[in-house]
Amino acid sequence: MASRYTGLIDRYRDRLPIANETPAVALGEGGTPLIRLDNLARDIGFDGDLYVKYEGLNPSGSFKDRGMTMAVTSAVADGVDTIICASTGNTSASAAAYAARAGLTAFVLIPDGKIATGKLAQAMIQGARIVQIRGNFDDGMRLVKQVAETAPVTLVNSVNPFRLQGQKTAAFEICDELGRVPDYHALPVGNAGNISAHWLGYKELAAQPGTLTAENCNDHSYSVGGYDKRPTMLGFQSTGAAPFLRGAAVDEPDTVATAIRIGHPQSWNAAWAAHDESGGHFDELPDSEILHAQKQLATREGVFCEPASAASIAGVMRAIEKGRIEAGSTVVCTLTGHGLKDPDRAIEQGGGLAEIETLDATEAAVRKRIESGL
Ligand code: F0G
Repeated sequence: MASRYTGLIDRYRDRLPIANETPAVALGEGGTPLIRLDNLARDIGFDGDLYVKYEGLNPSGSFKDRGMTMAVTSAVADGVDTIICASTGNTSASAAAYAARAGLTAFVLIPDGKIATGKLAQAMIQGARIVQIRGNFDDGMRLVKQVAETAPVTLVNSVNPFRLQGQKTAAFEICDELGRVPDYHALPVGNAGNISAHWLGYKELAAQPGTLTAENCNDHSYSVGGYDKRPTMLGFQSTGAAPFLRGAAVDEPDTVATAIRIGHPQSWNAAWAAHDESGGHFDELPDSEILHAQKQLATREGVFCEPASAASIAGVMRAIEKGRIEAGSTVVCTLTGHGLKDPDRAIEQGGGLAEIETLDATEAAVRKRIESGL
């Protein structure tokens, strides 16, 4: 029997609020690898199982595709022809891709000069209507919410409930693959949709058996998995954009991890519920620690993620060091976006290239470096 993987709606349709007869707008999203980090675990003296869920391998290079396939499938089923979002970059790239696929128009609002090159390139080539705003993501979010109240457009930021429904499937995949629920799950937190979506997924896996209906699809009162526990949820922010650590919105967020340069998270209550109900914790990391983790992951494991994604690894490394993660635990970190999203930052981290010499001089120099291992 043919078994071509077509995407998470086809795989998990019985667990999603999409009718059987509704065609999925899909690009093969989901099914991302869960990679065990033996080198890093050894480096930090961790005796448990450390994994990354490499969401950068989704079709547009970030976890947003899980939510966008759902939001756009539902919009098309409703006869919508225009979608809109504010974005720090990845949502705009994903919206552009799925809109192109479905023949919709996508308007994307991005903070002036603050989105990584790869993300801008994606939105541009895929024909999104790009609007640069004089303001940050939070200003853009306010604006698109106002517009969507009265204009004939569907808002596809994570306030759209279909987004979180799609993103919860990452939790299903992790448990399906491990054959168990991880003890800890760590994520970078920006607008706070993804940590909320994962908690939704984990709660469904461990709830009472029941049937998914349009009424209960967002209250996780039914079970899809029969697991008997839930992970402890850990959320990590950059010190310059850490409203969950301040306990209040931040008006001028700033961080090199531009994806999470957000001060007014939309899923504030849902993220706190994940924190409280799971007995988890939030922490903040300086940009230097986030960039260090990004580089460690690349050089020690060959896994390339964008800076914001590395906040999950940086946070877990710190939590292990401080004894906030029990010895012998199974820990999953979400790597939310691919490293190629932000090539400029990676090149900076690489320290630049040596000057170009004659071929003879180069050969001699390369031989010397190979001998010395530098
Ligand atoms: N990591 C990456 C790479 C992101 O792009 C985002 C959010 C996050 C983490 C945080 O996830 O918002 O669900 O807490 N990016 C959004 C965007 C805001 O517009 O692309 P969250």
